[in-house]
Amino acid sequence: MRIDVVSIFPSFFDVLEVSLLGRARGSGLLDIRVHDLRDFTHDRHRTVDDTPYGGGAGMVMKPEPWGEALDEIASGGSADAGTGPVFVFPSPAGEVFTQATAREFADEPHLVFGCGRYEGIDERVFAYAATLGRVRLMSLGDYVLNGGEVAAMAMIEAVGRLVPGVVGNPESLVEESHEDGLLEYPSYTKPASWRGYDVPDVLLSGHHGKVAEWRRTQQVERTRERRPDLLG
Ligand code: ADE
Repeated sequence: MRIDVVSIFPSFFDVLEVSLLGRARGSGLLDIRVHDLRDFTHDRHRTVDDTPYGGGAGMVMKPEPWGEALDEIASGGSADAGTGPVFVFPSPAGEVFTQATAREFADEPHLVFGCGRYEGIDERVFAYAATLGRVRLMSLGDYVLNGGEVAAMAMIEAVGRLVPGVVGNPESLVEESHEDGLLEYPSYTKPASWRGYDVPDVLLSGHHGKVAEWRRTQQVERTRERRPDLLG
């Protein structure tokens, strides 16, 4: 899978060199390319923002550098809405990113993350991107970050680990929170007794059927307690 990232803070993405994703990059499973938006400016100050039409607080990211960056990434502008990449713009005004979105994106050959700063990106950039590929504005949740970088990192990790081969044991992907619509069951390891806290007896019983039943019950109880919204 190819992933391009456009940001005015490319060094935010240095951490993609470590851990599982770093290894996946090294082995060629993930081709991640990070671009500095300022490299697509032409003025001495490498300007990427300007004041908003209509007034208001803050600055808006100018469309011109974005247009050039997206053209270059989407094969010199020769891509079209059908064949081009999926452009993901992190935004608190986007649809909410979930495990289902991560699975959907993991099937794509090419994702482009466009990280906005300030009060956002000139709206015409999204319309233009839609001529080069598909466009998704995605929110991590109902809170505001300073820019799209941290949100893009989170999405890249959630998607990247679903790409076949990135996580060594694919079974570990199945029994996770959100994969079956429920929160994950609690986990324990040795010792069986620690500082007066004991591992539930059923897990020491060796009875696989009872263990599975207990885990399922725990999943449902936790979900009802912590995330009743997931139960509908
Ligand atoms: N940019 C700023 N806040 C964000 C959020 N909650 N999700 C995604 N991108 C963002």
